[in-house]
Amino acid sequence: MTSVAEIRKTFLEYFKRQGHEIVRSSPLVPQNDPTLMFANSGMVQFKNVFTGQEKRSYTRATTAQKCVRAGGKHNDLENVGYTARHLTFFEMLGNFSFGDYFKSDAIPFAWELLTKDFGLDPKRLCVTVYHDDDEAAAIWKKITGFGDDKIIRIPTMDNFWMMGDTGPCGPCSEIFFDHGDKIAGGPPGSPDQDGDRYVEIWNNVFMQFESLPDGTRTKLPKPSIDTGMGLERMATVLQGKHDVFSIDLLRISSAPKSL
Ligand code: GLY
Repeated sequence: MTSVAEIRKTFLEYFKRQGHEIVRSSPLVPQNDPTLMFANSGMVQFKNVFTGQEKRSYTRATTAQKCVRAGGKHNDLENVGYTARHLTFFEMLGNFSFGDYFKSDAIPFAWELLTKDFGLDPKRLCVTVYHDDDEAAAIWKKITGFGDDKIIRIPTMDNFWMMGDTGPCGPCSEIFFDHGDKIAGGPPGSPDQDGDRYVEIWNNVFMQFESLPDGTRTKLPKPSIDTGMGLERMATVLQGKHDVFSIDLLRISSAPKSL
């Protein structure tokens, strides 16, 4: 069985081999960001790096970020206990490019890691792109050989990622795993997409804009990449479960006997 610890290590080391700096998770409560109560994704600690206000010694980073989505733009609280995939607290694995590489590298990185290093069967995967993102759709088609039925164009804000009402944002491409027809649910974009059959395991955001408090958007200094993979969801897949509460980290039988 692939443990949560092994999945985290495989992800971080894959991106280290691609020239990324492994950066520690920031604290759950963001320092110096009054717009968020809790970190809701890996990019929060890099917000000012995307906008060019802050410079780091690296232009590629990878993290395993502690996250809570219990309010604001990304609020999963109402789903916890009702779906097989939502948690109050989770870890988000991410790779980031600060004006370095863009879609034509990010998508092949994601595909290689999922299908080679993690060994997922391409038949169980499908992807979404923002409806007018022909470039991302073409890259997915080239590297996967998928037809249009597996590269699904989504016209809604489900495929335009924003950290909050303000901050870096951009169209995104989500990767879904099909848990099979014994689980209720349909592919993304279908009427029963909210079931647990097709679960989003990874989101690749093509960061290009910053939303400002007056509601307008400006361009980021350079196109950038922000991704988020749900560690516990990936463990669910790799451990052959469909319910996130069954993974090694969370299932009751894994508790020490003294508890
Ligand atoms: N920042 C990407 C995501 O949370 O999906």
